[in-house]
Formats: sequence, C-alpha cells, structure tokens
Amino acid sequence: MTAFRLAMRIDVLTIFPEFFTQVFDFGIIRRAKLAGIVGINIHDLREFTTDRHRMVDDRTFGGGDGMVLKPEPIFAAIENLIGTSDRASYPAGTRVVMLSPQGRPLRQPVAKELAAGAEHILLICGRYEGVDERVNDALVTDEISIGDYVLSGGEPAAVVLTDAIVRLLPAALGSDTSASNDSFSDGMLDCPHYTRPAEFRGMSVPQVLLEGNHAEIEKWRRQKAMEKTRSARADLLNGENGDT
Ligand code: ADE
Repeated sequence: MTAFRLAMRIDVLTIFPEFFTQVFDFGIIRRAKLAGIVGINIHDLREFTTDRHRMVDDRTFGGGDGMVLKPEPIFAAIENLIGTSDRASYPAGTRVVMLSPQGRPLRQPVAKELAAGAEHILLICGRYEGVDERVNDALVTDEISIGDYVLSGGEPAAVVLTDAIVRLLPAALGSDTSASNDSFSDGMLDCPHYTRPAEFRGMSVPQVLLEGNHAEIEKWRRQKAMEKTRSARADLLNGENGDT
C-alpha cells in the first residue's frame, strides 16, 4: 500500500470573496474537492473586523497614495483559522502565504514543495498599496509572487497558486504520469500534442506519432521539448532560473 494523504485544507483571506464564487468549481479542482482531496474555504476579511465600519484598510503612515490593509483583521483571522498567531506554534504542515509582487517567484518546484509538504495553507490576498508589514513579520511563512508584474490584488494570484498546487496532490489528476510529463517538471517545456483528425485543413500530424513505435515517439518528444525550450525559454537550459 502506498501512503495516501487524505486532505489538504486551503483557506483564502480576501476582501473580495465574491471573486472566488465559481473559480474553484471546474475541472481538476472541482474533482479534487468532490473527492475529498482538498477543501477550499473563502473568508471575507471584513468578518474579522470589530469596528462599526468594518474597516480593513487605512492610510499609509509617512504619507503617500493608496491604502494599506490593517493588521488587526488579518491577525484575528489567523487566530481563528489556525488557533494561534504565534508563528512558532503553528501546527506542522501549516503555511501562511502572502501573495505579493515582492515574494519569491512561483515556479514549479515551489508548487511541488507546497503540494508535498503542506497540509493547511492560508492564502492572504494583498490589496491596494500593500499590507501592514507586521503581518509579514509575525504571521507569514512564505511570500510568493506569480510573476514580475503588478496585479491590483492578490486574488488572481491565489487562484493560480491553488491550481498549481491542487493538481499535484496525489490522485487529483487521475493519472500517475500526467503531472510528471508537465512543462517544467524536468526543467523543460512540454512537447507538442496532437489529436484526431490526423489531417486537418492541410496540416498533418507528424508521421512518427501515428506509427506506434514508442521508442521513436519518446525520442521525438524529447527533441521537440528541447527545441521549444531552446527557442522560448533558453534561460531554463542555461541554469539561470535557480530552482527549475
Ligand atoms: N499581488 C499583486 N501583484 C502580484 C503578483 N505579481 N504576484 C502575487 N500577488 C500579487
């Protein structure tokens, strides 16, 4: 018998809970939820405010444009969802992730590490000018960016990260080999794929794929993956990408 981890729990903290109304109800994530592999809960930060106006943000000390997410509702949410805001006392397998452009770049090894090592992930969606730095200092275990561009909030990044993690959970994909064939899983891009019809508007599927010689097909796929990687992402081959 192989070891089988029953469930991962993902809690998303956001000031826009409606953003997530349907986004986790499709494809692999939906299947993983229905199979009990993952539970995803969306929490409105305003639910953790205690003031009459349910304020989640305030002006930035020192002056400047924009609003900063206040620490109190986020600390209260973490205490409610984890049981403590003392990072050293988080249960094993607990990760509090801040989505922000200042974070570590999300690459496949980061998703793999979270899929393999985390049991309870809390995603904090930043907003506006930022989040009070005491949240990072005291609560956050991982700050992650999905790319070198600035989104108006962490919500799309939370969706991207959740998808990248959940599809790697054992049994989520429904096939043992699919995830290991992904782009990046071996530091290279994926090879091209074709389906029927073999002939379409004058464009044919490469002959080798139709002939059933598995060794030749494997060789062709490796070669195409290499060509694609060299032309689109030479940085992956030159080892310029650290953790891929
Ligand atoms: N919030 C705003 N921009 C972001 C990015 N690039 N990655 C993650 N969270 C973000």
